[in-house]
Amino acid sequence: MTSSKEKERLLRELADELVANKKMPLASSNLVFGEGNPSASVIFVGEAPGFYEDREGRPFVGRAGKLLDKLIDGVGWNRADVYITNIVKRRPPENRDPFHEELEAYAPYLSRQIEIIDPKIIAPLGRFAMNYFIPMAKISRDQGKLFWWRNLLIIPLYHPAAALRSTEVLKKLTVSFAKLPIATEKFDSFLKERLPNEEEDENEPEQISLL
Ligand code: URA
Repeated sequence: MTSSKEKERLLRELADELVANKKMPLASSNLVFGEGNPSASVIFVGEAPGFYEDREGRPFVGRAGKLLDKLIDGVGWNRADVYITNIVKRRPPENRDPFHEELEAYAPYLSRQIEIIDPKIIAPLGRFAMNYFIPMAKISRDQGKLFWWRNLLIIPLYHPAAALRSTEVLKKLTVSFAKLPIATEKFDSFLKERLPNEEEDENEPEQISLL
């Protein structure tokens, strides 16, 4: 098993590699690579940094980030226990939605971050991050559900920015968020019970229930 120190070193190396890659889009914004426990069981993946994240070089530090912190505290965790990042690691101008080519360019770095951290659960925040893992998923239909992806579980969640705009969304996000510690705790037994899976079908990912 790779130690946290070694994972930290590998993540730093990956961030350096990303900085050195002059082909990456959005190069005029600052890099927001991600932060948190390099051996976290849970990774939160947002869409792309916003104004405050770009300024501080840290993910989820603006209003949506404050709500994310509150939700993390609400399930008895600390922000430092988990790992937080984005699929696109530089801010798009005026916080516009990321372009397809930007998602494509940054996704391999997310994939390598995940490989290094080797979590049990990934919680994509919002549809852009969710659709990287589960291309056919719809956020209103699939948020809060559990899907196998490789050997880990994906639990798509509403983006906290959406929850700031709607109390209904906030309620659903809070309910789904409460599944994270339960799924983390049950993860090893879920993995043991998982049927030896033929080919993974990304259009129809295997779904499980918490009960
Ligand atoms: N929204 C995101 O998707 N990511 C951040 O880091 C901040 C806001």
